[in-house]
Amino acid sequence: MELLPLVCLCLLSCSGETSAAGDGVKVVVEEDSDAVLPCSPSNKEDMTGKLFDWKKDGQKEVFMYDSGIHYNNGRPGQDELFKGRVSHFQDQLKNGNASIKIHNTKMADSGNYSCDFPRLQPRQTFNIELVVGQVLRDRTGENIPGAAPRPIINILKMTKDWILLQCEAHGSPPLTVEWKDRAGYTLDAEERKESERGGRSYITVKITVTKTDNYSCVATQKDISHQIAAVIPMHIQA
Ligand SMILES: *[C@@H]1O[C@H](CO)[C@@H](O)[C@H](O)[C@H]1NC(C)=O
Ligand SMILES: *[C@@H]1O[C@H](CO)[C@@H](O)[C@H](O)[C@H]1NC(C)=O
Ligand SMILES: *[C@@H]1O[C@H](CO)[C@@H](O)[C@H](O)[C@H]1NC(C)=O
Repeated sequence: MELLPLVCLCLLSCSGETSAAGDGVKVVVEEDSDAVLPCSPSNKEDMTGKLFDWKKDGQKEVFMYDSGIHYNNGRPGQDELFKGRVSHFQDQLKNGNASIKIHNTKMADSGNYSCDFPRLQPRQTFNIELVVGQVLRDRTGENIPGAAPRPIINILKMTKDWILLQCEAHGSPPLTVEWKDRAGYTLDAEERKESERGGRSYITVKITVTKTDNYSCVATQKDISHQIAAVIPMHIQA
């Protein structure tokens, strides 16, 4: 039993040696922004003449630096997904900074990255998780096939107390269509019709509104991060 504290201590410091500072870090960014994945060997030694290797999910080559030769100056082997999108911090290498920056992140970049110093004694490997959050926005300018165009709103009926509105949208499925008020609350639909033809989803949603507000019909295609809305201001006398 007397040995136990020693064993614990050793386990702690041993795991501290091989996977120290920066390990288990989670980096969260929004799509289309840049992400810095931090990494340094535990003794912060000068990396200029050393080797470090970044991989994604244990297999994809993200960035390798070996004594000045790396993926941005001729070294072959980088995964297509990362070509021209990853840089290191050259002026920080002397401080033991082996961090990388991934430019213009995509949701497909999400995953578990490893930063490896295979030639250090003992070898050091750090794990960094990258989460790229989805940003829904109008992507009609990006020429994505099947992206929904702006929905069309029609006023079907109007009385002094209420107005019946209809929204029509179409695009490749899965497509969702919702009515929202100006505060962004989803409104209960009066009637909803969905059909599919020619690989497109056609959706019509009606609502009755009884309050003066700006009403929007929002079409969303989460799989392509596309969202587009039409807005109609409504004035109710009562
Ligand atoms: C490495 O340098 C970059 C750029 O200056 C900085 O953003 C990052 O925090 C540094 N990382 C570490 C682990 O020192
Ligand atoms: C990354 O690893 C963590 C912990 O092992 C796991 O929970 C998570 O699902 C992984 N993320 C991805 C995108 O593979
Ligand atoms: C509707 O939107 C317009 C333009 O943004 C704004 O001026 C107006 O106050 C809004 N109306 C209501 C009822 O929120």
